[in-house]
Amino acid sequence: MRRWGPSGGTPPRSQRRTPLRLLRIVALVVLPLVFLATAATVGILLGSSRVLGPRALPSAAAFSSAGGSIAHGRHIAASFGACLECHGADLAGGKAFFHGSMGRLVASNLTRGAGGVGSRFSDADFERAIRAGLRPDGTPLLIMPSVAFANMSDADVRDVIAFIRSVPAVSRPTPARAIGPLARVLLATGQIRVEPDKIDAATAHLATTPAGATLDHGSYLANVGGCMECHGANLAGGHYQGSPKDPAATNITPAAIGSWTQSDFIRTMRLGRDPSGHVLNRFMPWTSFGQLDDDELAALWIYLRSVPPVKS
Ligand code: HEC
Ligand code: HEC
Repeated sequence: MRRWGPSGGTPPRSQRRTPLRLLRIVALVVLPLVFLATAATVGILLGSSRVLGPRALPSAAAFSSAGGSIAHGRHIAASFGACLECHGADLAGGKAFFHGSMGRLVASNLTRGAGGVGSRFSDADFERAIRAGLRPDGTPLLIMPSVAFANMSDADVRDVIAFIRSVPAVSRPTPARAIGPLARVLLATGQIRVEPDKIDAATAHLATTPAGATLDHGSYLANVGGCMECHGANLAGGHYQGSPKDPAATNITPAAIGSWTQSDFIRTMRLGRDPSGHVLNRFMPWTSFGQLDDDELAALWIYLRSVPPVKS
């Protein structure tokens, strides 16, 4: 009988298909692959469930929206808070993030209507969701930019909650959050993070800065408005942690836009078109930031002029 081996030539077809050979293929190739795939799936499920599981709530210092300014809260929600842009002009929810294999994530209905959180959230629950990214049951929020709102002053968050409480109840249930397989992989591998995990424990809520075209106020608006979340910590360009397909945010340090005038900047934020005529894509929330008043936009400009120029 001819033996298999380098000198033995190719065995006849009948011999190559022996059950023994099949068993070896199963044992050496298929089983390890099945094992690896199962281990990866279990790892992803466990990893993402751990990330999405409840956390200890920060000690609930009683928070009250009593005395908050509804008008100022509405201004924040329409402009640098951009609450209306995501939660809808009536705050009854609607804007959808995540599609297909990412799952389904819809900005919640914040009113007192059916399907809204307004009737069950206390002021402290609202404050925690906004500034800590946590639901009352301790589970973490996604996409909701609490990492930026963690900087919001006590007075501003009080005004925002007073505004939310003032809007008419709208009954419009939003679909429950569903975390799809791609989002689970991205969460398990840390490529997207839930809001509480982005918030530096050392972040102190900022003090209220007096309104006006000042560097201090501009810095406050940039921090709470989340410019760094998209444009990068040094504003030289970055990427918001949403879907990996979202476009990158450009360099807005003086190295890139230093030749603009203050009115160029204000026009860009109001009209969504920069001095070169480029129409900004919709990932730049200019329809909200354009609602800032002239002093606030001037303050932001003073702040942007003050950061170190970084070439990119
Ligand atoms: C970029 C879009 C976006 C912006 C801007 C935004 N939110 Fe949200 N918000 C969301 C999404 C999406 C959720 C649901 C997150 C989840 O289920 O993981 C949410 C959840 C919430 C919740 C928790 C509700 C619940 O279902 O538990 C509150 C409260 C809230 N947002 C308030 C605000 C306020 C107030 C502002 C403005 C200061 C604001 N949001 C701005 C997208 C946004
Ligand atoms: C959710 C993400 C996001 C946030 C938050 C954000 N930006 Fe942007 N921004 C973008 C993206 C994306 C672009 C690029 C748009 C394009 O090129 O079409 C952009 C472009 C710009 C431009 C135009 C630059 C140019 O050369 O045309 C300016 C100015 C700007 N952003 C300022 C700001 C300021 C100030 C803030 C904070 C108050 C801010 N952005 C917050 C995503 C964001």
